[in-house]
Amino acid sequence: MTTTWHILGPGAIGSLFGCYLQQAGFGVHLIGRNGGGPQTIELVESDIITRHQFEEAPPDQPISHLLVTVKAQQTLAAIEAVRPRLAPQPRILLLQNGMGAWEAVAERLRGAILLLGTTTEGANRPAPNRVIHAGSGETYIGALETRHQTEAEALCRQWANLPLTLAADPNIHGRLWRKLAINCAINPLTAIYDCPNGDLLQNPHALAQMEAVCTEVEAVMTQVLGEETRGLFTLAKSVAAQTGNNISSMLQDVRKQRTTEIDFITGYLLEQAHRLGLACPSNQALLNQVKQM
Ligand SMILES: NC(=O)c1ccc[n+]([C@@H]2O[C@H](COP(=O)([O-])OP(=O)(O)OC[C@H]3O[C@@H](n4cnc5c(N)ncnc54)[C@H](OP(=O)(O)O)[C@@H]3O)[C@@H](O)[C@H]2O)c1
Repeated sequence: MTTTWHILGPGAIGSLFGCYLQQAGFGVHLIGRNGGGPQTIELVESDIITRHQFEEAPPDQPISHLLVTVKAQQTLAAIEAVRPRLAPQPRILLLQNGMGAWEAVAERLRGAILLLGTTTEGANRPAPNRVIHAGSGETYIGALETRHQTEAEALCRQWANLPLTLAADPNIHGRLWRKLAINCAINPLTAIYDCPNGDLLQNPHALAQMEAVCTEVEAVMTQVLGEETRGLFTLAKSVAAQTGNNISSMLQDVRKQRTTEIDFITGYLLEQAHRLGLACPSNQALLNQVKQM
């Protein structure tokens, strides 16, 4: 029997994965903000457009496999809304930027098998029924708890036919931390200076802030991961150069007057720093500034 995936948050990334999962033969239901999702999605890849038709999820069908692609700050409310429909031991994959959204989910859904994912696929959604696959990347999946890592491996085997570069990562926490570090270094600054990633490299003030942020993040990561973390400023500059024209999701959210993911990026870093007794004044200043925007 084919697995049916319910996708909670059929935005840019959720729609992309929904189309790919359907293409690979899985049952797919999209669950948007008010329960239902778009019925049809046009997936645009270069000059090829494919149309995908989705049926509304039958309300009495237990959700056994849930892919969560809402923004980090939307996770809890979204999960609460589908909680009565979850099967007794659901597989839940949180595919989001930032860290820590899983904490409240794990607390509330004690029987669930929680998997964490990170992706560098690029997608945007110019209209609710249209998703543009803007760039290919890599997706990694691991388990929140080590004892569930075999579930992450099984999922990657099941998803082997998706047109994605996808792998299980036994050290998903380390990978999420490295992504978080780059996000801390680039995203808040792009929001504050209202510029594409690459413009930060031409702004001496922003660069000095980036360096200070990186030094603080390295100190926290070294303690959390138990291994010396170095070279983050160099890495952040090279990522900013490679993604020079990108408008970060944080800046996009600020421009659209939407809540950003800062609490799950810089905010998560600051929580861990506080727990460890480490001061991170530069990160704190950026968090304060972004939250006032
Ligand atoms: N887009 C990318 O290229 C990309 C790449 C890597 C990682 N990510 C990460 O992936 C995650 C999703 O990003 P995205 O760009 O796909 O965001 P997005 O387009 O805003 O998608 C989020 C979707 O969740 C919906 N939603 C919000 N609250 C909900 C609720 N309570 N129940 C059901 N649906 C709800 C939103 O609906 P509304 O439209 O009504 O708000 C929206 O359709 C983020 O953590 C992002 O940082 C994105």
